[in-house]
Amino acid sequence: MAAASPTPSPLLSLRRAAKSYGGVRALRGVDFDLRAGEVHALLGENGAGKSTLIKIITGAHRPDAGEITVAGRTLDGLTPALAQQLGIACIYQSPALFPDLTVAENIGLRLEPAGAMRRVDWGARHRRAAQLLQQVGASIAPAAEVRTLSMPEQQLVEIACAIGAGARIVVMDEPTASLTQREQERLFTVVRELRAAGVGVIYISHRLEEIFALADRVTVLRDGQSVGTHGLNEVTEAGLIKLMVGREVAQIYPPAESAPGEPVLTLRGVGCAASGVHGVSFEVRAGEIFGVAGLVGAGRTELARILFGLTPADAGEITLNRERLAPRSPPEAVARGIAYVPEDRRRHGVVLEMPIAQNMTMAVHRRLFPGGWLRGAAEQGLARDFIRDLAIKTAGPDAPGGSLSGGNQQKVSLARWLATQPRLLILDEPTQGVDVGAKSEIHRIIRQLAKDGLAVIMISSDLPEVLGMSDRIGVMRGGTLTAVLPGGSPAAAVMAAALGQNERPDPA
Ligand SMILES: Nc1ncnc2c1ncn2[C@@H]1O[C@H](COP(=O)(O)OP(=O)(O)OP(=O)(O)O)[C@@H](O)[C@H]1O
Ligand SMILES: [Mg+2]
Repeated sequence: MAAASPTPSPLLSLRRAAKSYGGVRALRGVDFDLRAGEVHALLGENGAGKSTLIKIITGAHRPDAGEITVAGRTLDGLTPALAQQLGIACIYQSPALFPDLTVAENIGLRLEPAGAMRRVDWGARHRRAAQLLQQVGASIAPAAEVRTLSMPEQQLVEIACAIGAGARIVVMDEPTASLTQREQERLFTVVRELRAAGVGVIYISHRLEEIFALADRVTVLRDGQSVGTHGLNEVTEAGLIKLMVGREVAQIYPPAESAPGEPVLTLRGVGCAASGVHGVSFEVRAGEIFGVAGLVGAGRTELARILFGLTPADAGEITLNRERLAPRSPPEAVARGIAYVPEDRRRHGVVLEMPIAQNMTMAVHRRLFPGGWLRGAAEQGLARDFIRDLAIKTAGPDAPGGSLSGGNQQKVSLARWLATQPRLLILDEPTQGVDVGAKSEIHRIIRQLAKDGLAVIMISSDLPEVLGMSDRIGVMRGGTLTAVLPGGSPAAAVMAAALGQNERPDPA
């Protein structure tokens, strides 16, 4: 990191960048520099303007004011084509690849010049893809169809495209939100290689550990303004949080206050051939938070989908409050008092055209508004409560879902299921993509719900969260539950179980 030359001229710089959406001022004159060979983190609360800044850099949105200098050219805005031409590449959290084409075809389409008369050299295309995939450390066959790949693998394909295109600036907007530790480490290795090759990486994440492990500098945004750029060796976690939210936030987990009561949910040998889940047995009591840990692909989300009637079980027995449960559809599960907040809420959660209030109440319409006519007032009241409790940054309950930042959309979809007042609440990655302040708020709410007697299943790849929140921790591997550990177990014990290493004696 030693700066050899006195002032290396930045790869990219933004001056006084401003952007409004209608009346919302997303960016209010932000300065930002990216150097060659640095990982520059962008940090800020949900709605602070991070994604907006990225959209300006990738040419997806045009700034209302300000200028951007890339590769010695000063412009008052970019287009996606120009950004690409200037060596700017963006790795999205949900990669934008063609699912029915092979990996090599996708890479070819991105990198080879287009033209109707062009003949494809399949051999060369294949070799190039293989070489790029190797460069990012991916063991992916170039001939594999993209839809057979996991999200993290698709992300690596995107990075391979960026490297192949000779990108000098690589932008990553929350790339690790759905990665496990291992996949995350692989991604970090690739990012470090990019840095070593002189690429400038802009890296958005809400996970501070990650920023400290990876980034050289960090720029903190608050309410559309930059509140400073710092070397990571000159700031602390607490200091960054304070910069970000303007106050201290305790990063401690709320203590368990409830003594778990009667079993609410019981599974005996549950399986579903179609989703690869088999032989799952455990129970969850009223007032208990049952954490589910495991690697991506271990079957955690599949288990949730069985319980919610999305992929019905074809083996074993489930009981809810001592009555047999075999939901064949989500409405059946909802009618039995089950709520499921899915992961990847960015794609499955919020209806972008619909007002926030309706987004929040759509799962409870029949119960809350039997006659229909009271709907407006009751809906607004409920929405205002959730907007306040979850600190959702919005103009109000009538704003469309699509006007919210990513993290605030996630809070809306959480609110929708909390509004159903379920007996069993299944949360899949409940705090993925939300900022530290909102995260501790969501933890407090989950604890409160458990205290009120709800049974909670909390699936999470965030190990500190699983350890800090769970009364007991179920670990899944290879489609089944392989261990149940007491809450407060050491991280190493949970990881070992998730990886299938030798059962260690539990020191707890
Ligand atoms: N298309 C849009 N229409 C209206 N408002 C928008 C739109 N996109 C973003 N905004 C608003 O601009 C502000 C900044 O949003 P942005 O997406 O940049 O936040 P962010 O820092 O990326 O947050 P997150 O951590 O939640 O992803 C927010 O107040 C958001 O509601
Ligand atoms: Mg964002």
